[in-house]
Amino acid sequence: MNFRDLVSELESRGDLIRIRKAVNPEYELPALLAQAEARDKACWFEHIAGSDFPAVGGVLTSVQRWTLGLGLSTDRFAAPNSLEQYITEAVAAPVAAIVATTGPVCDVVINGNDVDTASLPAPLFFSGDSHRFISAGVGFAQDPETGKQNVGFYRLPILDRRLVSVSTGPTSDLRRIYNLHRERGTKLQIAVAIGVAPSLQIAAAADIPAGIADIDVAGALQRAPIELVKCQTSDIMVPADAEFVIEVTVDLETWVDNTMGEYGDQYGKTTSPVATIDAITHRRDALFHVIMAGMGREHNQLGSLMAYRMRATILERLHDRHPNVRDVFADMTPRRMGMRGQVAVSVDKTSDNQPDAIINDVFAMQIGRFPMSMLMQRVVIVDTDVDIRDHQDVEWAIASRTIHASQFSAHEDQTGRGASVIRFGFDATAPLAQRTVMRRPDIPSAEQYDLDRYLQD
Ligand SMILES: Cc1cc2nc3c(=O)[nH]c(=O)nc-3n(C[C@H](O)[C@H](O)[C@H](O)COP(=O)(O)O)c2cc1C
Repeated sequence: MNFRDLVSELESRGDLIRIRKAVNPEYELPALLAQAEARDKACWFEHIAGSDFPAVGGVLTSVQRWTLGLGLSTDRFAAPNSLEQYITEAVAAPVAAIVATTGPVCDVVINGNDVDTASLPAPLFFSGDSHRFISAGVGFAQDPETGKQNVGFYRLPILDRRLVSVSTGPTSDLRRIYNLHRERGTKLQIAVAIGVAPSLQIAAAADIPAGIADIDVAGALQRAPIELVKCQTSDIMVPADAEFVIEVTVDLETWVDNTMGEYGDQYGKTTSPVATIDAITHRRDALFHVIMAGMGREHNQLGSLMAYRMRATILERLHDRHPNVRDVFADMTPRRMGMRGQVAVSVDKTSDNQPDAIINDVFAMQIGRFPMSMLMQRVVIVDTDVDIRDHQDVEWAIASRTIHASQFSAHEDQTGRGASVIRFGFDATAPLAQRTVMRRPDIPSAEQYDLDRYLQD
């Protein structure tokens, strides 16, 4: 399913609202989009002041929306860990992309000299943002080390009529590609697609292991190959059914600062290279995708894929040293805790020292390119009678079973941007000597008594 098919599907289900009045891309559009997301609606802006195109946002805001976009039943990922398993299987058995001679994204070709970024409905989101941003750009770049095309979401500050920047975090593969080209003094061309298939957006956001093509993982996720066409001004292959493709040459000698409202609801400052637009291609009736910046649902939901293997990785590594660890839950929901998440570990502990050892082991881990202490704000260890997927239950354990000061620890983390921050460890397990007194009230065989059956009789 391509991007516009999912948008149509949402509209037919009553999950999309249309705004027919002209809106200003500066603040007005983001203010409305944030409200639409809060109502669980995708939002189509038909007229945007100064722009030639309509825009849509709030599309891939939930795992259920992803199932629709992947053509799966909406309860496909209801079981714990099923999404992580589905992506892991797609990584293990990628489906190779196929090449087409042309596609809808080639309907209209605008050559570099005729490009004017003002025609794109890229919003100014927040008062402290340094630029208007293209927020749903999926970037394609040839990786000189693996020989594969690297794909990821990168936001594009708009600098001028033909100038943008392609913003990369310090640890991204694209930053490594920048560094390689800079060292070698070679020219770097990139293509940024907007409005790509849901499968490709999921693969772009996920941290796919190096050497495996994100595009082929997307093919496996949608159980059909992605169709690619060659760019107009480079050999980069881009999705034939995208809404837009922006082709750029990156100037690795000229870097600019940009400030954006970030994923966890703080501003973030990045320095990234200036890029000149060589061409823009788009569908005849192209629909621009805007992902609400900051702590928006679509941004946060897709962003959580960065760590889709985190739970499994932590569990595997803990099992080596702590075979009595039962399960792990890694929660990256910024709505709950800002930028940083929480790891909850269920353990049938053998000593009162073990939870603290587990907390230290978790904070010392590195997941992909991220130190755990950068990603996680809290590590909570609980007994096996606590549901690690239920926040209230975990909070109950902290409130009820952290009874000695020694069960709480603070860890200083230096790995983030700028200042150090404090991370917390909670041993929320009942001390072994007090297990019996601290047990939870339970109703024997409660599951036998199904309220619905009693109501029918
Ligand atoms: C909506 C959205 C916007 C993102 N913007 C950026 C960005 O501007 N720069 C960046 O480095 N990563 C950004 N990310 C995260 C990357 O897309 C993600 O980490 C991806 O795996 C990076 O790919 P790479 O390591 O192959 O370059 C964004 C993710 C989402 C979902």
